[in-house]
Amino acid sequence: MRHFLTLTDVTEAELRALLSETARYKRSRVYHHQALAGRTVALVFQKPSMRTRVAFEVAVLQLGGSVIYLGQDDIQLGQREPIKDVARVLSRYVDAIVARTFAHSDAEAFAQYATCPVINGLSDAAHPCQALADLFTMHEQFGRVKGLRVAYVGDGNNVLHSLAEGCAMLGAHLTVATPPAYRPDATIWKRVSRMAASHGATVQWMPDPTRAINGAQVIYTDVWVSMGQEAQRRAKLKAFRPYQLNMQLLKHAAKGYRVMHCLPAHRGEEITDDVMEGKHSVVIDQAENRLHAQKALLAFLLKRR
Ligand code: CP
Ligand code: NVA
Repeated sequence: MRHFLTLTDVTEAELRALLSETARYKRSRVYHHQALAGRTVALVFQKPSMRTRVAFEVAVLQLGGSVIYLGQDDIQLGQREPIKDVARVLSRYVDAIVARTFAHSDAEAFAQYATCPVINGLSDAAHPCQALADLFTMHEQFGRVKGLRVAYVGDGNNVLHSLAEGCAMLGAHLTVATPPAYRPDATIWKRVSRMAASHGATVQWMPDPTRAINGAQVIYTDVWVSMGQEAQRRAKLKAFRPYQLNMQLLKHAAKGYRVMHCLPAHRGEEITDDVMEGKHSVVIDQAENRLHAQKALLAFLLKRR
């Protein structure tokens, strides 16, 4: 039995296989695969979601399975009962759990106590399901991930952590610009740097967004204020102002660059409307790819039981 809490829960070979399965699901456009026939997947979400929830629900249905969504009001995780009880009981009913938590340790607790695969549908530290779709989208756009020059500008958050792991595993060159006070997590960054070194990739942090974007083929950003950080909103908006993806900044990108964003986007904050809607933006394809990537992941994790 395998869990998927961070991208590094799969090997490089498995990651490549997941991406080619994602391509196969996208190409096939057949909606009644039987990979999950007779299986039930529970989504346990402590935070709102559109893409992750709908992509997983539709993926399970199109693979022939059933899905149950449990929002915070249904389960009241940690209030009505502890995660270890929820995880053990749910595992007796369902074949996989997709958990969207605040603390990453809560996702880990799910995995520790569940007797079925647990998928991290976003925690404060990681968003590996997003990274699968992101890496697939890069491959779809450029025909490769290895050697691609990727720049991430914005907050050193969950989305960046998983993207950085993916870039390191697949040999891309990642430059990251965040305000010094909002760098990626030091432990994760050390692990990513070590992985990059052994995979012919490079990862570099810097405070200067123009330098990070210089010559980059993929420019990625995410919201400045993640779910659960609302109290920091004022301070963050001030600190991040120079990190907005706008036409001026994008002049430094490589010719034929692509703009990526995991969505939801806050126009006028981390990205301008003209960049979101511009011809370099692939954000809607990227969001579509969540569906295909989530199918590949579910089929991979549930095949093994
Ligand atoms: N990108 C993403 O995970 O979106 P949702 O929060 O809508 O699921
Ligand atoms: N960093 C964002 C991603 C949302 C998909 C958040 O955690 O809110």
